[in-house]
Amino acid sequence: MKKRTLGVGIIGGGFIARFHIRSWTGVRGADIVGVFDPDAKRAKEACAMARELEVGPAKPYESITAMVADSAIDALWICSPNYTRTEVMEEIASAVLRGKGELVGVACEKPLGRNVKEAKKMIELARKAGLLDGYLENQVFAPAVTRGKEIVWTRGAAIAGPPYLARAAEEHSGPHMPWFWEGTLQGGGVLNDMMCHSVEEARFMLTPPGAPRDVLTPVSVTAYANCLKWQEPKYAALLAKNSGGKTDYLKRPAEDFARSLVEYKDKTGKILVVETTTSWCYVGAGLRLSMELLGPEYALQINTLDADLKVFFSRRVKGKAGEDLVEKQNAEIGLMPVVADEGVEYGYVDENRHMVRSFRNGLRPEENFGDGLAVTELLMAAYLSAETGRTVPFPPKGLESFVPAVARGAWNPRTK
Ligand SMILES: NC(=O)c1ccc[n+]([C@@H]2O[C@H](COP(=O)([O-])OP(=O)(O)OC[C@H]3O[C@@H](n4cnc5c(N)ncnc54)[C@H](O)[C@@H]3O)[C@@H](O)[C@H]2O)c1
Repeated sequence: MKKRTLGVGIIGGGFIARFHIRSWTGVRGADIVGVFDPDAKRAKEACAMARELEVGPAKPYESITAMVADSAIDALWICSPNYTRTEVMEEIASAVLRGKGELVGVACEKPLGRNVKEAKKMIELARKAGLLDGYLENQVFAPAVTRGKEIVWTRGAAIAGPPYLARAAEEHSGPHMPWFWEGTLQGGGVLNDMMCHSVEEARFMLTPPGAPRDVLTPVSVTAYANCLKWQEPKYAALLAKNSGGKTDYLKRPAEDFARSLVEYKDKTGKILVVETTTSWCYVGAGLRLSMELLGPEYALQINTLDADLKVFFSRRVKGKAGEDLVEKQNAEIGLMPVVADEGVEYGYVDENRHMVRSFRNGLRPEENFGDGLAVTELLMAAYLSAETGRTVPFPPKGLESFVPAVARGAWNPRTK
């Protein structure tokens, strides 16, 4: 396919869709042509944002099938909630297979599925419909990660030997929408929601530049999960209030803190380690992504709250609460870090450039559904380890059909 401009349709016009739309000012060769969201207001707002930013003549569509049927749309970005993944992909595949229209590719936000079965289904449907597939893991496209990896590998690793330990952490004070907090809808708690980023970003840094992911084989996974903050009655009451009484963390909590240690083996049999920490109970200035890559004679470190821009507001500046300085901002006064261009720094711009370029050239993106499935497998092994309190060899038995207790609404650390 060598169409001059790729027409992109977005499924789900919420929080992450807006990140993608804002990032599009740095994307070439593609326009945002439309948005489908069952919430018409959301679709309209997202389209207005795209038109305002002049990143495409976006208009709301009445269904996914209508987007597939429109020849102006060549690729779809799945940005709807986790619990809609397979139904959304089923509709895309069915519309293509029934000849309603043609698509080149589909890109899907994390996680690819809430469990291994769902992630596999996504791959199967994309294959059946003959679509190129991209997995939207923004962190492996973040400039600090890609540039840091390049420097460490070409200078440090080339002279002193490859890295052996990668650490990644993603922490904030909790998701913005009630469905994220429900294990049954989201697929878990913070382990599923945010460790998907950390295990993949850290694995990416440990992998030699340009090498396929299978140069490193997971050997074992050890994980821990708990609910440290949000099960406290006063915080559980806040979640109940924010969800119109639906979320009940006294009875059905999800983990708000989780860590994992993944052992990998390289082709020579040497062990390498990925260590991750994720939390929904970190109350700092806002979202904090921290990463490290350590080798025999070098170290790399990233901390997104160590921003080069800081502003100070005295106690007399009593403005409205907002997220105008940084994602998941927790305060408005004092000395505040500002991530000047979050779309660039978190990796959305380079991620979308890569997806667009791959689709326009008829190539499978480097980060694709295969990577999404591999991440899901690691996360499910982590849940298995956390549930049993043991290190699990990878792949553990029963991984294919495993559904974490938290995703079944059957997890409560207080009643263990
Ligand atoms: N890469 C990241 O860092 C990152 C950050 C946030 C969210 N996400 C992922 O993006 C996805 C969406 O998250 P969000 O924060 O935007 O959630 P959100 O709740 O803010 O937005 C989701 C939107 O999808 C719409 N929707 C619901 N059902 C739908 C359906 N069947 N078809 C189409 N649209 C539907 C909702 O009306 C809503 O507008 C999730 O899978 C989440 O894990 C990724």
